[in-house]
Amino acid sequence: MTAAPKVLVFAGSSRQGSLNKQLARLVAKRIEALGGVATFVDLKDYPCPLFDEDIETQGIPENVLKLRKLLADHQALFIASPEYNGFITPLLKNTLDWLSRPYEDTPGLALYSGKWAALVSASPGGLGGIRAMPLAQQLLANLGLIVLPQPMSLSKAHTAFDETGAFIEETNSKKLDALCQRLVDILACTSEKILL
Ligand SMILES: Cc1cc2nc3c(=O)[nH]c(=O)nc-3n(C[C@H](O)[C@H](O)[C@H](O)COP(=O)(O)O)c2cc1C
Repeated sequence: MTAAPKVLVFAGSSRQGSLNKQLARLVAKRIEALGGVATFVDLKDYPCPLFDEDIETQGIPENVLKLRKLLADHQALFIASPEYNGFITPLLKNTLDWLSRPYEDTPGLALYSGKWAALVSASPGGLGGIRAMPLAQQLLANLGLIVLPQPMSLSKAHTAFDETGAFIEETNSKKLDALCQRLVDILACTSEKILL
């Protein structure tokens, strides 16, 4: 029997009340409901300094090491992120940069190699943060991840969730479920192939 695929889920915003954290939590629930294993991580719990090679030379920060362990233990990333001025957030870029670095016997980018990624974005605005999605896709591909096409962007996100954190509109539930299902299916296929 194949082990359930493990997905690391986090948001590119750390603020309290983040809509993207809300979306990431929902992603984690849906992945579990579809037979995957999801670990939701709040990056507020893992503050990392702005990347600087001088800091790196002094020693990789503890929280980066913790995130490295988490990444190594999962087959995929599922990222929910807002856009800032049509671009990915500094938090997302900084986190991905730290995790791209070599450490001990592990070469740079090795932690990402062969892993899958899926993306969603949320914004109170009308475009749902969609402008940063191609940029995030490009960055993840540069890092060596295989990125699912057609990310979901949630517009008017401040009115999208009920008090339990579920979507109010069924169309949003269907879109998110379809994306989560695609990721779980592809992970199941690829891990079966590896076992053959
Ligand atoms: C510096 C900055 C730039 C922003 N730029 C955009 C933008 O380009 N497009 C957009 O839809 N919202 C933009 N916003 C609004 C965010 O989408 C909004 O604050 C959102 O709630 C942030 O995500 P979060 O709720 O997960 O923290 C920006 C917010 C900040 C702080």
